[in-house]
Amino acid sequence: MKLEIRDLHAEVEGREVLKGVNLSIRDGEFHVLMGPNGSGKTTLSSAIMGHPKVKVTKGDILLDGKSVLGMPADKRAKLGLFLEFQNPVEIEGLGMVNFLNSAKAAQSERTSFKDLMAEIKSGTEKLHLKEDIIGRSLNHGFSGGEKKKMEILQMRLLKPKMVVLDEPDSGLDVDAVKIVAENVSEFQKESKAGILLITHYARILDYMKPQHVHVLMDGRIVKEDGPALAKEIEKNGYKF
Ligand SMILES: Nc1ncnc2c1ncn2[C@@H]1O[C@H](COP(=O)(O)OP(=O)(O)OP(=O)(O)O)[C@@H](O)[C@H]1O
Ligand SMILES: [Mg+2]
Repeated sequence: MKLEIRDLHAEVEGREVLKGVNLSIRDGEFHVLMGPNGSGKTTLSSAIMGHPKVKVTKGDILLDGKSVLGMPADKRAKLGLFLEFQNPVEIEGLGMVNFLNSAKAAQSERTSFKDLMAEIKSGTEKLHLKEDIIGRSLNHGFSGGEKKKMEILQMRLLKPKMVVLDEPDSGLDVDAVKIVAENVSEFQKESKAGILLITHYARILDYMKPQHVHVLMDGRIVKEDGPALAKEIEKNGYKF
């Protein structure tokens, strides 16, 4: 699958946040997006997924050459797009197993209950999550790190083709950063998915090898380079 973002301009609440973003990601490629707080990274991921609060005013978002503008988020997910939220929502009363089962069924992938439970068990083990977490409501009362790991578990179960991870390392302890990085790398090796990872820190890249690092500032990509750019930003900040 190929994701292309062409000269994307987008507004939130009547304010222009994205001011002409160009980005292209193919199968198996691993891209990193960095940028100061408020530069538009989450807005870009919301636009890719089709969040209704983001209004595209110019440009296009294409999956395999076809525009997805106007397509609702669930349809984009069905095509193989997956977004890890920066701040996952809590839904009390929606059981984890029920939620994961519905998410899989919506992708029209038939999985028996037994296989689903086996996948969940293996997923929680790989992420070092307590097994009893699966008996709880979606993210309800989960710690910050548990919520972020739960998003990675969903990604592994749903096996998307194009993944946007919005700060998967935020709020994670040093060991958890490594565990999440290993899970994402293993997933990519198995699935050959394209990945766009948003982060503020070079640490997670100690365990993963991106090909490209892009820097978003004030709604525009202002710099692109290899992984060394992430280290440079960690050292010197956004002074180019
Ligand atoms: N619902 C909203 N109403 C008003 N402004 C918004 C809304 N959502 C986002 N914005 C504004 O859009 C700008 C970009 O926000 P965004 O969340 O995309 O930044 P970010 O790059 O993800 O930052 P961070 O690194 O802090 O996560 C910010 O100035 C933010 O206040
Ligand atoms: Mg953000």
